[in-house]
Amino acid sequence: MVAVEQMFRLDGKIAVITGASRGIGHALADALGRAGAACVGLARSAGPVTPFTSSVTYIPADITVDPVTVIDAVARQHSRIDILINAAGISLATTAPEMAMQVFDQTLQTNLRAAFAVSTAAARHMPPGSSIINVTSIGGHQGFPGNPAYVASKGGLRMLTQAMAVDLGLRGIRVNAIAPGYIHTDMTAISHADPVLHAQRAGRTCLGRWGEVDDLVGPALFLASSASSYMTGQDLVIDGGWTARGL
Ligand SMILES: NC(=O)c1ccc[n+]([C@@H]2O[C@H](COP(=O)([O-])OP(=O)(O)OC[C@H]3O[C@@H](n4cnc5c(N)ncnc54)[C@H](OP(=O)(O)O)[C@@H]3O)[C@@H](O)[C@H]2O)c1
Repeated sequence: MVAVEQMFRLDGKIAVITGASRGIGHALADALGRAGAACVGLARSAGPVTPFTSSVTYIPADITVDPVTVIDAVARQHSRIDILINAAGISLATTAPEMAMQVFDQTLQTNLRAAFAVSTAAARHMPPGSSIINVTSIGGHQGFPGNPAYVASKGGLRMLTQAMAVDLGLRGIRVNAIAPGYIHTDMTAISHADPVLHAQRAGRTCLGRWGEVDDLVGPALFLASSASSYMTGQDLVIDGGWTARGL
């Protein structure tokens, strides 16, 4: 039985976070580091947009290109991986019909295929008690206009979460997801800056506001830690009540 005081601590754990150069991945890497984990953050940029405040090592890597090599290198250096957060993602809204298939392929490649490749590679180095967390979206639960590739990729990632929970469960590896609503990051910068869209999105929630990256820290720590030791295959919706709301 883990003491309540230790339940959310990650001391001695090795965590890999994709999409750690900015936004949600950056915030979650920093938070896991503050909870005691030794974190490795991955993204394509040469470095994070702002420095980390905790023990996060950053490695530039495109997860659509040979993620096995970088994951194996991390595991070799740290001897194992205890926590993986798949936060890397893209949203390429396009209205140009001639671009539709290219956008679809590119989106699925990053948001779904790469998450599967990274998870499969990491799972080979994960001991029992490890945790994989995918970052899905309320777009994986409901249809949103103008970006079918994104919605399909997140719905796919939600089901991948369940499928991998089944396949990895008997090895003691838990696989869950967090499904954010509208969170203020670079990905949502345009609608956040537009007064009409900003108010429309806030008004769809029960709490009457946008989410901030820090709103995701508690749920991610819960899923990463022993606090959620009997939970797997779930997609935890963190949307200020967006999906709970009828009228
Ligand atoms: N913001 C929201 O409202 C919201 C809502 C629901 C779900 N989400 C999901 O949350 C995750 C993070 O989104 P965000 O809002 O933080 O977006 P963001 O600010 O645009 O950050 C996306 C991150 O993914 C990385 N990335 C993209 N392609 C990559 C690749 N091929 N290889 C490695 N890293 C890659 C980016 O880094 P580089 O450009 O440096 O590679 C960046 O660190 C995404 O999966 C997104 O779909 C966001």
